[in-house]
Amino acid sequence: MKKTDSCRYFATWDTTSTVRSRPNRYLFTDTEFSETTPERWFPKALIPLANQAGMEILPEAALLRIHIGHLVHFLDYTTELEISYVNRAICCITQGALSQHFSSQERFCALKLYADEGYHALFSRELSDQVTNRFSLPRMRSARLHHLDRSRATQRHKHQELAAFIIAFVSETIITRELSWLSHGDLLPPILHMFQDHLIDESRHSIFFSDLFVTLWGGLSNSQKDFMVTCLIKTILIFSRPNIHFIRLIADTHLTVIENAIKTLQNNWLDRISDSTALTMRAIKRTDLFKNHTYINAFRENGLPT
Ligand SMILES: [Fe+2]
Ligand SMILES: [Fe+2]
Repeated sequence: MKKTDSCRYFATWDTTSTVRSRPNRYLFTDTEFSETTPERWFPKALIPLANQAGMEILPEAALLRIHIGHLVHFLDYTTELEISYVNRAICCITQGALSQHFSSQERFCALKLYADEGYHALFSRELSDQVTNRFSLPRMRSARLHHLDRSRATQRHKHQELAAFIIAFVSETIITRELSWLSHGDLLPPILHMFQDHLIDESRHSIFFSDLFVTLWGGLSNSQKDFMVTCLIKTILIFSRPNIHFIRLIADTHLTVIENAIKTLQNNWLDRISDSTALTMRAIKRTDLFKNHTYINAFRENGLPT
């Protein structure tokens, strides 16, 4: 087993993790609820639609609905992903067949991560319920979660733990990349705190999962590696595809500018993958995965960076 120091960033967990050190940071005041500047509710950088040409002509009320709608969607998605997918992978690492690949110290640190994710789920729900109750916004389960559900349902039993691990690995490395783009001071305080606090924890998680990926890969059989590569590609594509159903729900699709922006998104979403998966790919390149021509070709055939 390749030795890594996966737990190095958990040494200060008792004093630096969000769940231990930063209570009561996510409650809105009435003044904050009356804010009408869209970008104070959710960063444009995380709204693919808002970055398309022509969107600047939309009335502020329409933009405000798009930004607040994305905030709620992101929070609800986070709550479910953390408890149903990331912590499912932690169960496999600590208790399941995968546990044989990891040291007792790694399994112990994984439990700290489990506690972090439970708290992320909690504060995301706390924020989301406040905003939804105030603005009576529609809520829609993320299409990404439906795709992950379908992918999970089709796995053979012997591969289920590997698939759970891959989903968490891709999720943890992509979310850290995304959160790092947006912790700027213009957001309303409860939202800014949520992003900053989540990022502090996720920076630790992405390093941990990257190290565990490298360790796990080194201990797999050839047929398990074949499965891992197929599953990696499928999962990265699921995490990168824009959620068109949600965009249609939250935006006024009678406007030509919205329809044009949706068409552009449907055509260019693969262009964003090399940015959003930078940390994912960095971990993959620490293994010999791309020394195998079949694997590297599979990535390229699906439009993924190598
Ligand atoms: Fe998290
Ligand atoms: Fe995490």
